[in-house]
Amino acid sequence: MQLVNIEYRSELYKEEIKLRDEVLRAPLGLKFKKEDLDAEVDELRYGLLDSNGELTACLLVRILDDSVAKIRQMAVKEDLRGKGLGRELMKKVESELKIKKFNKVELHARMYAKVFYDKLGYIETGDIFTEIGIPHIKMKKDI
Ligand SMILES: CC(C)(COP(=O)(O)OP(=O)(O)OC[C@H]1O[C@@H](n2cnc3c(N)ncnc32)[C@H](O)[C@@H]1OP(=O)(O)O)[C@@H](O)C(=O)NCCC(=O)NCCS
Repeated sequence: MQLVNIEYRSELYKEEIKLRDEVLRAPLGLKFKKEDLDAEVDELRYGLLDSNGELTACLLVRILDDSVAKIRQMAVKEDLRGKGLGRELMKKVESELKIKKFNKVELHARMYAKVFYDKLGYIETGDIFTEIGIPHIKMKKDI
């Protein structure tokens, strides 16, 4: 799978919103609002493309400061889960972030997906909290 940088408001960006909507919002009965998307203008966005150029997985990165990046909205197409794509995207993005001189990554894991991040070396910090109506936990990793 090829790692790509998704430009804000590009053609691929539209596919990325569709994938995130399907995977992260529709199952909760939610939808992205214009203001949610407008607030993402300064974020980095990455995806994995298959050999047909189809977007199979994506995530966002919010820059918190010169050394800390926050990974958000990790999504893998439903029929492609459990094949290592999520891990591949996370590892490739961590490598990109290292090149950009970030040395810490943090994220808010949905509790049901916590083991996925445990296996990538993320460590939980703090208590469980509710975000978009479901339990999450903050996790961190030094890269
Ligand atoms: C969570 C998600 C990103 C994982 O991606 P994936 O491509 O299915 O995961 P991978 O195949 O790369 O799995 C890597 C490892 O994590 C494990 N894993 C993946 N999802 C898991 C889950 N929900 N619970 C427990 N373990 C999980 C896999 O079993 C695998 O373990 P192994 O190395 O021992 O074989 C994907 O299932 C997804 O998009 N889910 C819906 C959206 C979501 O919850 N996003 C995360 C928001 S915080």
